[in-house]
Amino acid sequence: MPMSPARTGRPGLAHSAAGRFPLALLGMLVACGPKPATPAGVAGELRGPDGSAVPEGGIGRSIRRGHALLVATRDSLPDHVGNALRCTSCHLDEGRKPGAIPFTGVYARFPQYRSRVAAVQRLEDRINDCFERSMNGRALAFDDPAMRDIVAYFAFVSRGIAVGDSVPGQGVTLGTALAGDTVAGAAYFVTSCARCHGATGDGTTIAPPLWGPRSFNIGAGMGRLRTLTGFIHANMPFDKPGTTSEVDAVNVAAYVAAQSRPDFPGKERDWPKGDAPPDVPYRTLAKPKK
Ligand code: HEC
Ligand code: HEC
Repeated sequence: MPMSPARTGRPGLAHSAAGRFPLALLGMLVACGPKPATPAGVAGELRGPDGSAVPEGGIGRSIRRGHALLVATRDSLPDHVGNALRCTSCHLDEGRKPGAIPFTGVYARFPQYRSRVAAVQRLEDRINDCFERSMNGRALAFDDPAMRDIVAYFAFVSRGIAVGDSVPGQGVTLGTALAGDTVAGAAYFVTSCARCHGATGDGTTIAPPLWGPRSFNIGAGMGRLRTLTGFIHANMPFDKPGTTSEVDAVNVAAYVAAQSRPDFPGKERDWPKGDAPPDVPYRTLAKPKK
């Protein structure tokens, strides 16, 4: 798979179309003849999982804005993003990639009980968790137009998926090991990661930071060893996914997790029922339950 750093920060919808077709030709394709059976050929047009196109009118505009916010998060919402990431830095392929926390069906997975807060969360709460932790930023008001647009987009990419159903490749397949060899991980980082993420892990123009002040904060799910291991094992290196063994993945994850990153004040109140998973990299106040 060719890596496409050009996607980084590029908002809008006709991204691959613009890259592959002169726009005039695209216009002709759309103008003449019946709609192609496989719209993916006309590349870049947003599709729901059931193949449906973005509807016209106000809801369509909202869906398109929601999509643009996920791929150009910082430019669109500078007051809510405190690092160099965008939503699709982790929700890869613009949130469509199985094994990379796809958004497909996400609207059907909420409300959901989450042990980290020991409460039922709405989809908006979950979005804000990623703003506050993964993006090291600030929550959006539930009635902020940007929040409504993101939810509209999530509903669109969940069409045809029944409430409560799960989708293959949803989330991240967690790693199994609870420790890695950071020395071996450092060596793997140099050979397999640094060319994109930078020798000091703080990002380059083609890939976002993995640690340091411009990375996700300590409270983010990606800071957990098993999540990070699973994500790397399935998805990295970006241009050669599937080539990192689980051992290499846990070693490099341990190395990445051992570096400094922004704090998340209040993290000690996570998992208030004492059921924090074993790979959470900070202490929580609640007494661990047996
Ligand atoms: C640093 C990586 C990272 C970034 C950046 C990030 N997320 Fe996430 N996100 C995660 C992880 C990890 C999970 C949890 C995966 C799991 O539970 O298996 C998650 C879960 C989610 C979920 C729930 C998914 C589900 O299937 O239940 C939503 C919704 C979400 N993120 C939205 C966002 C939005 C919106 C942004 C941008 C404002 C964002 N994320 C940025 C890592 C990230
Ligand atoms: C060919 C370039 C390339 C290589 C090599 C590469 N990555 Fe990435 N990585 C990316 C890009 C690009 C993204 C963000 C994708 C986007 O924004 O669409 C990313 C995202 C990530 C993320 C989630 C976002 C973040 O910054 O926290 C992690 C974690 C990650 N890579 C770890 C690794 C590790 C570990 C290695 C080595 C095993 C590696 N990557 C190798 C290009 C690369």
